[in-house]
Amino acid sequence: MIQHLLSIDDLGAEGIDEVLRTTDTFVEVNKRAIPKVQALRGKTVVSCFFEDSTRTRLSFETAARRLGADVMTFSAASSSLKKGESIRDTIETLEAIGADAFVVRHGSAGVPAQIARWSTARVVNAGDGQHEHPTQALLDCYTLRSHLGDLNGKQILIVGDIKHSRVARSNVAAFAALGAKVKLVAPATLLPAGIDEWPVDVTHNLDGALDDADVVYLLRIQQERMEQALLPSLREYSHGFGLDARRAARLKSGALILHPGPMNRGVEIAADVADAPNAVITEQVANGVAVRMAVLFLLLGSGDLNA
Ligand code: CP
Repeated sequence: MIQHLLSIDDLGAEGIDEVLRTTDTFVEVNKRAIPKVQALRGKTVVSCFFEDSTRTRLSFETAARRLGADVMTFSAASSSLKKGESIRDTIETLEAIGADAFVVRHGSAGVPAQIARWSTARVVNAGDGQHEHPTQALLDCYTLRSHLGDLNGKQILIVGDIKHSRVARSNVAAFAALGAKVKLVAPATLLPAGIDEWPVDVTHNLDGALDDADVVYLLRIQQERMEQALLPSLREYSHGFGLDARRAARLKSGALILHPGPMNRGVEIAADVADAPNAVITEQVANGVAVRMAVLFLLLGSGDLNA
């Protein structure tokens, strides 16, 4: 196993497979009356979030506690960063207090990798700018495999704001590594530069892509990251690229709908579609705890779950 988890490319197909196999163990642990093991007893995991989060922060903290680790929660908004302390001094301070691992979210790409260079602790990228969100991709792969089996040859549509999406970058890498066929569906203004080099097909026509899809993966429109008006209006975006009930009804039997959250109901996904039986959005969140237990265990654990 690798020292840090900074991007999906760190893992490759074999590493992804190892995380998903280990996740099976923790899904079983999480079904127990007391969903807890002591695999990380004596270890300290720091949840280090410089940018807002609900799912990722809370599921990493839950994962660490269920593994028996101590959890330190660092919140940038109430820290000495506000008094001018640097990120490097902050990390060295947290390491001096006893950090064995940092789970890092930051609005700028590359900050988790920089922390990994400064620190002797393990580092997990919990989302850095528009770069990557590897554990989101791993929990998505786990969720898809649990419904569809092997992803080899499966047609996965990723729809929406690809340009600003770290989730899209990690998921394209993970789905492609597992042999899935990925098609990006977006207006031209929401595609990043260099898209020709990604292992994907691209279309601007959602209606033309729905019939063959095994999976429709919707992305949030990230208005907070848009420096200029890239869309005429949210209403027009929704008309062309939103998954409403009419479009969802065209999906083949067994096709799944995913979203990493947080959702904009009524924009990229209609409220009733988000609650449909084939929308597995809360299942993604639940699997996130077990996947993050697997990642922390593989990075910090002794190798023996009962030790
Ligand atoms: N999917 C995701 O990263 O959600 P949060 O921003 O709530 O962590």
